[in-house]
Amino acid sequence: MLSKEPVLARAHTNIAVIKYWGKADEKIIIPQSSSLSLTLKEFYTDTAVKFLNDLKQDQIRINHQRIPVSKKIMAVLNLVRKLANTKAHAVVNSVNHVPTSAGLASSASGLSALALASSYAAGLRLSKQDLSRLARHGSGSASRSIFGGWVEWQRGHDNHSSYAFPIKDSTLNDVDMIAIIIKKTPKKISSRQGMRRSVKTSPYYGAWKETTAKDLTTAVNALQNDDFRTLGHVAETNAMRMHALTLSADPPFMYFNGDTIKIIDLINDLQAKGVNCYYTIDAGPNVKVICQHCDSLRIKRYLSKFFNPNKIVISGPGPGAHLIQK
Ligand code: DP6
Repeated sequence: MLSKEPVLARAHTNIAVIKYWGKADEKIIIPQSSSLSLTLKEFYTDTAVKFLNDLKQDQIRINHQRIPVSKKIMAVLNLVRKLANTKAHAVVNSVNHVPTSAGLASSASGLSALALASSYAAGLRLSKQDLSRLARHGSGSASRSIFGGWVEWQRGHDNHSSYAFPIKDSTLNDVDMIAIIIKKTPKKISSRQGMRRSVKTSPYYGAWKETTAKDLTTAVNALQNDDFRTLGHVAETNAMRMHALTLSADPPFMYFNGDTIKIIDLINDLQAKGVNCYYTIDAGPNVKVICQHCDSLRIKRYLSKFFNPNKIVISGPGPGAHLIQK
């Protein structure tokens, strides 16, 4: 039964420490390798969905602006209609508390919130694992935002076997990520295009697949053995290897700008002074710094000498996707 009232869900974004960069199946989004992320408290999307039988097409508003239905949104809504056996169209209102398209992964929180709100509004009551599979059809990283804290997305080989799950027995929970937001403008090459080009043209792609599988094992062991240094180090290495795929693609491309390099230098300075902090960068110029909670204010103070402190946001681990109103 379709829900009479709009269903409102909240999902937090996540930042990968072991990156997803490449698809084995573009249609249902099966990745080339497994990945690992931390769901963040401070960045999230609220999405309200209601299905109406007499609507002629889906109506989407993001941050109060009407937009055409994107491929990512369509993938989730069509699958929900199929599972719920309905032809009704949806009214979707989504508000991002994440800078869109600037490497802070708004598609992870957005598509994850949409998966939960739309499936519930269509009368489905999916398990978290099924929600993760559904969100994955919209955007790969969204499969991880269904869960809170440290989350692995296991690659799998088909729809059934490719889903995310929380890491059990992680002892590293007093961790923060510091996001330094240096550019809010949308990126030129989406992660979808960027990873496709990397898979097709980078001669290093095979090496990436091999090393990233090892990196994942190292990172999960570090999480379970309270080994922050190993976790931070492998996250930094893995991120740089992902960006090496963009630099080695044909034609090459790059997500860094001058400020990105400046922050990498500053983090290297702090490391040289003995501060335990590591950087990671996604498909945009922003940098996220991984550190222990006890060090985050000190690191923010240092970065604030060079960047606007209002654009430096500290976030601890956040919860999984949840309903706010039903
Ligand atoms: C660099 O999940 O946005 O953030 O599946 O094509 O929607 P699509 O891509 P998306 O890619 C995220 C890439 C990344 C790394 C990561 O989050 O693992």
